[in-house]
Amino acid sequence: MTHWIRRRRKCGFSRYGHNVRVARVLLGVTGGIAAYKACELTRLLVRTGHEVTPILTPDAERFVTAHTFEALARREMPRELYPHLVEADLLLIAPLSANTLAKLAQGLADNVLTQSALAFDGPVLAAPAMNPRMWSHPATQENVETLRRRGVELIGPDQGDTAEGDVGVGRMTEPDEIFERGVSLLEMRDQLRGRRVLVTAGGTREPLDAVRFLGNRSSGRMGAALAAEARRRGAEVTLVSANLSVPTPVGVDVVDAPTAEDVARETLARRDADVVLMAAAVADYRPAERAEGKRPKGGEPWTVTLEPTTDVLRELGAGRTNGAVLVGFAADVGERGLERAREKLATKQVDLIVFNDVSREDIGFDAADNEVVLVSADGEQRLEKASKERIAVAILDAVAHRLGS
Ligand SMILES: Cc1cc2nc3c(=O)[nH]c(=O)nc-3n(C[C@H](O)[C@H](O)[C@H](O)COP(=O)(O)O)c2cc1C
Repeated sequence: MTHWIRRRRKCGFSRYGHNVRVARVLLGVTGGIAAYKACELTRLLVRTGHEVTPILTPDAERFVTAHTFEALARREMPRELYPHLVEADLLLIAPLSANTLAKLAQGLADNVLTQSALAFDGPVLAAPAMNPRMWSHPATQENVETLRRRGVELIGPDQGDTAEGDVGVGRMTEPDEIFERGVSLLEMRDQLRGRRVLVTAGGTREPLDAVRFLGNRSSGRMGAALAAEARRRGAEVTLVSANLSVPTPVGVDVVDAPTAEDVARETLARRDADVVLMAAAVADYRPAERAEGKRPKGGEPWTVTLEPTTDVLRELGAGRTNGAVLVGFAADVGERGLERAREKLATKQVDLIVFNDVSREDIGFDAADNEVVLVSADGEQRLEKASKERIAVAILDAVAHRLGS
């Protein structure tokens, strides 16, 4: 039984209809205009029965007072490293400034919040809020990748006007949405514990000769987000990685599989997993022959014959023996593509097909966002355009539902 459940005293019901178990939340607040919105977040958490310990950075206290948070949370703010830190269930930081984000990425510990973050080994949810130019700066984006790779979940920032009048991505996600995600993280912590989840991610590269290959634009971001989310829910996760251009999440077992043949071998060897998420863009065809060395440049055309690769999804579907959940991805174009995804559901005997339209530049291949349709025998669910991390949450929700978790 987890510590969190052991300390449960009561059940609260939020206006959102959750049956929420009481948890201890460390609420970090940093210095930015959105700090005042953390008051509402505190109120929502306290109202659903959670124990909130506010930790304001010294700069946050230039925007809001510790006194307000102490009154809302009905507890004092720790002025030195919180002794019972290890007992907290969630570290929630909202708003997260560019400054503290950078400190967390570097592991600095120069105030009570950054010290707490370094000493805390539970789930971390943070809502960045800053000027759009600060958010899009390569330094911030590299820090974001570092935190994500370590398993920190970032919610937002969202598109909108900022306090300084700039419009762009940088606005803090609204408190009710942060609250919802925080609560579901607490609820889902053990949802997939004891389950083995296999995720394939990235795009395969099929060699033409020693240096050239036929490949695709898949970055592996969707698969990496799925692996991170499954890990967050307590699963034992293996990531079959085909040339990822994004970092792999911490706590996940990574198996390199650069070609379609490698993906087939590594995936079929682990077909007894409880959940298989085939997010990799695996080549349908590969060169029938690989030229020796590097083919020298010449005036003659180079004719390449392509042969079909193993259809891993079909093999997994055909050989199903346990009650595993099998999820395929269909990267296709337009309404006709969606129809093909529906056909794929039946012909490949999978539980769920995630369809995404790769004709659009703003979603899918090599993009931060996605907009998908979940196709299953029970019906279809369209997910609005959102970050791949948020899409991964919805896909894992559908998987957990099928597992009865
Ligand atoms: C009026 C004002 C508004 C600010 N808003 C933000 C903000 O929204 N996001 C941000 O990252 N920094 C913002 N800053 C800068 C931070 O306050 C500054 O980087 C500070 O050092 C953050 O410290 P902390 O991360 O320890 O809280 C703002 C500064 C001022 C003066």
